Amino acid sequence: MTDPHDSAVSSPADGATTSGNGSAPQPTHYERIGGAESVKAAVRLFYDRVLVDPELAGYFTSVNMEEQRRHMVLMLTVVLGGPNTYAGRGLAEAHQPLNIPDEHYARVGVHLVDTLTGLGVPDDILDDVRATLGSVRDQVVSSGTSAGV
Ligand code: HEM
Repeated sequence: MTDPHDSAVSSPADGATTSGNGSAPQPTHYERIGGAESVKAAVRLFYDRVLVDPELAGYFTSVNMEEQRRHMVLMLTVVLGGPNTYAGRGLAEAHQPLNIPDEHYARVGVHLVDTLTGLGVPDDILDDVRATLGSVRDQVVSSGTSAGV
């Protein structure tokens, strides 16, 4: 009944670290997938996919993709239980002005999970990423009607 996923940038890995047997600390998801270099590579591949998706590319035409990748690396790092140095805007603040419909959110989620799957990220980590995608959805998807601005 507990929900460890109710914050935009918290580690969802809590359940994986409760052994309490005096054994060595469990590695975080971030460590298990190879740390900063792996997250950077994943984010690069992820945006490569997003930018060739005709449904999504338009959102990014005037976005500085270097900055965008950097922010996403920092955010994904936190989601995977790595060090928290994310200092960007909150998800709602960054996305609500974009009027993103559910369908586009789902596509971005598929690109992220497919990217991680292609990189061989283990299933339990993918499950936590999916759970995080579920828990932050309301901050990203437009809360108004899709009547446009
Ligand atoms: C869980 C899903 C998502 C996460 C974690 C995420 C993460 C981020 C982050 C960290 C930023 C940078 C915020 C800043 O500049 O301070 C950002 C900006 C942005 N995101 Fe997302 N995003 C998600 C979903 C989406 C979706 C579904 C779309 C479009 C379909 C999208 C489009 C954008 C765009 C266009 C910007 C740049 C906004 C601007 O510069 O004004 N994002 N996102």
